[in-house]
Amino acid sequence: MDWGLQNRMSRIVRPEDGRTVMLAVDHGYFLGPTHRLENPRATIAPLLPFADAIMLTRGVLRTSVDPGTDKPMVLRVSGGTSVLQEDLSHETITTSVKEALRLNAVAVALSIFVGARHEHESIVNLSHLVNEAEEYGIPVLSVTAVGKELEKRDARYLSLACRIAAEHGARLVKTYYCDSFHKVAESCPVPLIIAGGPKLETEFDALQMTHDALEEGAIGVDMGRNIWQSDFPVPMIRAIRAIVHEKATVKEAAGILGEAKAKGSKR
Ligand code: R5P
Repeated sequence: MDWGLQNRMSRIVRPEDGRTVMLAVDHGYFLGPTHRLENPRATIAPLLPFADAIMLTRGVLRTSVDPGTDKPMVLRVSGGTSVLQEDLSHETITTSVKEALRLNAVAVALSIFVGARHEHESIVNLSHLVNEAEEYGIPVLSVTAVGKELEKRDARYLSLACRIAAEHGARLVKTYYCDSFHKVAESCPVPLIIAGGPKLETEFDALQMTHDALEEGAIGVDMGRNIWQSDFPVPMIRAIRAIVHEKATVKEAAGILGEAKAKGSKR
C-alpha cells in the first residue's frame, strides 16, 4: 500500500486498535431530510468530537461542517436515484475524484447493488472509481446496499456482495450485521464495518448488534440512525465508542447511556 493511501486509511481506522467509529450522515442523498437529520449542522456538531470519521456528501460537507475540523471526511460519491423510485439501484458516480481531493476527503464511498436491476452498472462504477481514486492514493469504501429490500440481509447474500466489493478493489466494505455474520467476515479479504440500518426498537439492541458484529469479525461501525435518532445521541455514540474502542460489554455500554438518561444529560 502506498504511503498516502496507508496514511488516509489510518485516519479512518485507528492504528492503536485497528477499529473505527464512523458517523454516517449521508442519508439525504436519496432520502432527503431524514428524521433528525433535517438540519445536518445541528445533528453533526455535537457528535463530531466522538466520531473517528464522518461519512457524508459534498453538499453537507460544504454547508454543514466547519472547515477548521481535523476529523477525516469520507465522501459519498454515488447517487442519482431518490426514495420515490421503487428500484434504488440506478446509481452512478456523482462526485469526481478531483472534487474529493479539493475537499480533502480521506476516502470516497459508493454503493453496489448486487442482485438488483442495476447490479452491473454499480459494480462497474466501483471498478472505475477504484481505478481513478487509487491513482491519487484515495481508498474506496464500498457499501453493499440493498435498497428497499431489507430482507436481503442474510449471511449468504451479504457474503456474496462483500466479496464482490473486495474483489473489485474496495479497501473497506460497509455492510449489515446478520445472523452468522462471522461467515461474511471470514470470506471478505478486506476490513468490514457495519451500518446500523433503520432505528432498532431499543438502543440496547443497537449496542448488542455492535458488540456481536465486532465479536464476529467487523472492525467497527459506520452508523447513522441508531445514533442520531436516539433521544440521547451523544451518550449513544459514547456507548458505541466504548464497545468499539474500549472493549466494553453491552451492559457497561448501556450503563453509559443509562447514566446520562438518569441525569437527563444530553452529553
Ligand atoms: C445509507 O444509504 C447510507 O449509506 C448510510 O450511511 C448507511 O446506511 C449507514 O447509516 P445507518 O446506520 O443509518 O443505516
